[in-house]
Amino acid sequence: MRLTVIGTGYLGATHAICMAVLGHEVLALDRDLDRLEALAGGRVPFHEPGLPEMLRKALDSGRLRFTDDVAEVAAFGDVHFVCTGTPQLPGSMGADLSQVEGAVTALAPHLERPCLVVGKSTVPVGTAERLAATLAALAPAGDAAGLAWNPEFLREGHAIEDTLRPSRLVLGVTSDDARERLEAAFAPLLAAGVPCVVTDLATAELVKVAANSFLATKISFINAMAEVCEASGADVHQLAAALSLDDRIGGRFLKPGLGFGGGCLPKDIRAFIHRAEELGTGHSVRFLREVDDINQRRRGRTVELVREAAGGDLRGVRVCVLGAAFKPHSDDVRDAPALDVARRLHEEGARVVVVDPQALDNARRTHPELEYAGSALEAAAGAHVVALLTEWDQFRGLDPARLGAVVERRAVVDARGALDPVAWRAAGWTHRGLGAA
Ligand code: UDX
Repeated sequence: MRLTVIGTGYLGATHAICMAVLGHEVLALDRDLDRLEALAGGRVPFHEPGLPEMLRKALDSGRLRFTDDVAEVAAFGDVHFVCTGTPQLPGSMGADLSQVEGAVTALAPHLERPCLVVGKSTVPVGTAERLAATLAALAPAGDAAGLAWNPEFLREGHAIEDTLRPSRLVLGVTSDDARERLEAAFAPLLAAGVPCVVTDLATAELVKVAANSFLATKISFINAMAEVCEASGADVHQLAAALSLDDRIGGRFLKPGLGFGGGCLPKDIRAFIHRAEELGTGHSVRFLREVDDINQRRRGRTVELVREAAGGDLRGVRVCVLGAAFKPHSDDVRDAPALDVARRLHEEGARVVVVDPQALDNARRTHPELEYAGSALEAAAGAHVVALLTEWDQFRGLDPARLGAVVERRAVVDARGALDPVAWRAAGWTHRGLGAA
């Protein structure tokens, strides 16, 4: 099939590359010429394990090309996947839909032959129906240019696996033609037995926000238990381990710690609250406000633990922060809990030195007020407190004795439950963690 992908950010680039590897002819569009040049030259402009190799494979096959010309895209594709971002609107909980709406309104006037426009972006329920009306009004092909919704569930760090072997496909369609086109686009996945839910537009949009809300709720649930553990002398890690053994609950997304960040979960739950309120059903998702609040409180509690470890006052204290990315195996610092905590420590007067295996360039851009180091030993030199905020394997494996030799004081705060308290205490460290007395 001839597919196009509009937007070559995290989602669009991965989708375009994987679709070409699956055997489709793919033309990907972006207005960012530097990004197009990088991708066409075989360079992935973000960190994603395995994706550079897949990009080279796709380019070598001759089936993946890039352009900034929307008319070329319209003429080329049988199916157009819209993969543009939907960030949080500044000063609002709602989503900024301008990129998705802009993509459809730019494409529509060029659609002269039968085709399908497929939204993959995460949007408030009801957006797809509105975009279908826009398409019908603007496309010369009229009804022959259809609209469908196919939400994407990929996780950063697992993007290829999640695209080629997703847990499910969700196809929101309003016609047999749309379903058939999408089934043809995903034929190799369907043949491999990937479960597929065919539904209407609104349900497809909602599946995505409901899934992210559930995941965020699971994380905040265990972090709420961490708050109770801190007050009662219980241990949240043992509590989580015991809960996980009930397979109705399961252990995934039940990891207590500094909580969730990134470009999806935080803004998606806020946009969902906003949309539900617009629909007059705000009470149905009121609990998501608490999910967000619990998540924010973990950041505050971590700052408190570092302050306590520093003796009650952060002014002039040197803090080594291990981790900047919102999670390991990513260079993404969007709403990164680690950098939020680092910033707050800095604002309270600490001298903060951050180290991260992948995210330093991005962190330097968003948080120029902080200091950065190339290794944990360098970052820890002369530190009064070491704070582990993103659980990279490199940090889990740190030798407490070696690190202890370079710090000023052996005090560690582990906000991700990644360090063995027994080993660190044996090496002379005071160890504090979230979720324990
Ligand atoms: C998420 C969804 O998982 C994915 O399906 C959706 O398409 C996009 O949003 P992603 O943002 O890549 O993916 O990260 P994810 O692995 O879900 O982690 C989100 C955050 O939750 C991270 O900050 C992580 O550190 C935190 N987390 C995750 C926990 O604090 N505890 C857990 O048990 C799991």
